[in-house]
Amino acid sequence: MEKNAPIGFFDSGVGGLSVYARFRHALPNENTIYYGDLKNLPYGNKTQEELVCFARNILDFFKTKNVKAVVIACNTSSALAYDFIKNDYDFKIYPIIQSCAKVIAGMNINRIGVFATVGTVKSGAYKRELCRYKSELSVKEIACPNWVSIVEGVGLPYEESDIKIHLDEMLEFNPDKIILGCTHYPYLMERLVKYAPKSIFIDPAEIFVNYLKNDLFLNDNLKPGYEEFFVSADVESFLKNSQLFYNVKECNEADACIGNFS
Ligand code: DGL
Repeated sequence: MEKNAPIGFFDSGVGGLSVYARFRHALPNENTIYYGDLKNLPYGNKTQEELVCFARNILDFFKTKNVKAVVIACNTSSALAYDFIKNDYDFKIYPIIQSCAKVIAGMNINRIGVFATVGTVKSGAYKRELCRYKSELSVKEIACPNWVSIVEGVGLPYEESDIKIHLDEMLEFNPDKIILGCTHYPYLMERLVKYAPKSIFIDPAEIFVNYLKNDLFLNDNLKPGYEEFFVSADVESFLKNSQLFYNVKECNEADACIGNFS
C-alpha cells in the first residue's frame, strides 16, 4: 500500500468530524478525505441491510480515490455494517467501536453506560466488544433517538428534557463511566455536564485516534497533508454544521460518482 495515499473517513453527517478533527490535530501531515452521507442521515434508524449498502457504496468511492485505509467514524456503521464488508477491500478498515473496546474495558471500572443510536443499542455491539476483554463488566446501553437531530439541526427544536430523560435513567444505573457511543454526541457535552461530572463521560474519539496513530502506515510528509470533503447531499447544511467540530471550508457533492444509495 502506498504510504502517501489518503485515508478515508466516513459518517452519516458531521458527527464523524469529532473524530476527524482530533486526527488532523494529531497527524496533520496525512492526506485525508472525509465523506458525510447526509442523503441517508440519520443512520440510527436504518436497517442492517441499508447500512451495509451505504457502507459498501462509500468504500467503493474511497477505492476510486486509492485510499490506504478507511476509518469508520460512525458507531452505527461499525456496529451493523463492518462485519459484512471487512474482508472485501484491499485497504485496512478501522471501525470505531471494535478499535476502542480493549482500552475502555481495560480501565479500572465495573459498571459502564453507553449512550448511542437505536441501531447501535439494538445490535448490542458495545456490550459484546467490551465483554470480549472483560466479561464481568456490567453494561447498560441507552438509545437517544433525538440527539443526532439536535446536532444536525434537522429535527425537533432542542428541549432540555431530551437530554435529561436519558441521563437520569443512566445515572440510576450508577455507572463508573458513560461512553458517548455516537460521534455526534460530544457536541452535547456542555449540556450533559450540567447534570453529571465531565470526568464520567468517555468520548471514544481520543482513544480511537491513539489507536490509529499506532496502527496506520503513516506517510513521511513534512508539510500538512491535503484534505477533501464530500457529501451525498446538502452541501450547505454540512458546511454550516461542520463548524461545530471543524472548520470545513469547501465541500463537494459526490453522489454522482457513487450511484444511488437507496
Ligand atoms: N454519528 C453516527 C454514530 O456514531 C450516526 C448517527 C446517525 O446518523 O444516526 O453512530
